Amino acid sequence: MANLAILGGKPLLKEAVKTLTWPIRTEETAEKLKELYMSGEWSFNSPMEQKFEQEFAESQNARYGVFMVNGTVTLECALQALGVKAGDEVIVPALTWMATAMAVHYLGATPVIVDVEPTTLCMDPALMEAAITSKTAAIIPVHIYGSTADLERILAIADKHGIPVLEDCAQMQGGFWNGKGVGSWGKIGSFSFQQSKVTASGEGGICITNDPELAEKLFLIKHIGYVRGAKQGQGAKTPAGLVCHNYRATAFQALLLSEQLKTLPARVCRYGENAAIMTNAIADVPGVRVQAPGRLSDPQGYYSFHFIFDGAEFDGIDRWIINEACLAEGVGIANPTHGTVFRHNLFNLSPDKYRIFGGGCPVCDKISCERALGISHQVMYYKETAEQIGAVVRKVASNIDELRKYAESKK
Ligand SMILES: Cc1ncc(COP(=O)(O)O)c(C=O)c1O
Repeated sequence: MANLAILGGKPLLKEAVKTLTWPIRTEETAEKLKELYMSGEWSFNSPMEQKFEQEFAESQNARYGVFMVNGTVTLECALQALGVKAGDEVIVPALTWMATAMAVHYLGATPVIVDVEPTTLCMDPALMEAAITSKTAAIIPVHIYGSTADLERILAIADKHGIPVLEDCAQMQGGFWNGKGVGSWGKIGSFSFQQSKVTASGEGGICITNDPELAEKLFLIKHIGYVRGAKQGQGAKTPAGLVCHNYRATAFQALLLSEQLKTLPARVCRYGENAAIMTNAIADVPGVRVQAPGRLSDPQGYYSFHFIFDGAEFDGIDRWIINEACLAEGVGIANPTHGTVFRHNLFNLSPDKYRIFGGGCPVCDKISCERALGISHQVMYYKETAEQIGAVVRKVASNIDELRKYAESKK
């Protein structure tokens, strides 16, 4: 008699796992939205936008926040504020959503893609240093899924070379590194509030910074050249040559985010506890591990949680077979990582528009395109779900001979 449910054994779980309904909706926020609607103060640096900018910046230990329409334009504006221009190079990690590289391209600069660490899946600082050239105008570490790029090493190298660091924290609201919020370590931190993020307003993004000049410049860029506090039609202060945009988000989004920010620290704490449960569940199972949290992260923020099946035990077993086996036990782990950025099917830059440092990204290719699977933050919210998922992955990965037998039968 087989152990694994996929071969006729008894499934581990009796019923569907509990997940957090997303996005969070409450009657209280609905009431506040109505009040805001009636106030008519919907945009143009409204009081609600200012309130949220301040709250969010403070929550990540920065002095200034500039709220925008999404986490792609925040990257673009941040690079522009840092002086990145056509012909420059900007270093980005191989594992990220393609917006990180595309923001560089939008400014006419060249993204230089470097491989990631096999443990954290964040940019490898040693490779990053080796990728620096006389054209490098900025570096963008990305804090990805459930880990934080090694800010200590990255900032030390960047400082040594006099290159500004822009942190891409699109996936890392509420995360801290060595006692200080992520996004406040580099010159600018960029966040996304798109629907799936842990604080979400449908669409939205923010740049945070401790530098008043950068804050002012970011505001001008996103607010078609108006100074902060200007009335519509007055107070334009567009320096010659500074290309400005309308990248304003609205007060409605700011309100949603301000409300969600209240529960963020407690949620981040829960994610961390539940990540530990799943990590411990598979700790002694050969061949499987999890994405390592940032070395000095406390708390580690989470957008998702990933198992990595890259031990020799799993050689030749497709990751989707593992997911199928988990599903048969009662819960899937079907959240894949993005894959190497230039392999993404939406990434259509011609090869002369970007550079791959060292000619390839074998670590990212193997882990992210083939060996990692996981769950989203909504799924890792409940302790009992984390226990169930830990137990399911443990069972599947411990019955490797049966899993292999199933995989062979599918070839
Ligand atoms: C790492 C990273 N950078 C940038 C972005 C872009 O954010 P947005 O979707 O808000 O434009 C995302 C969004 O998914 C992301 O995950």
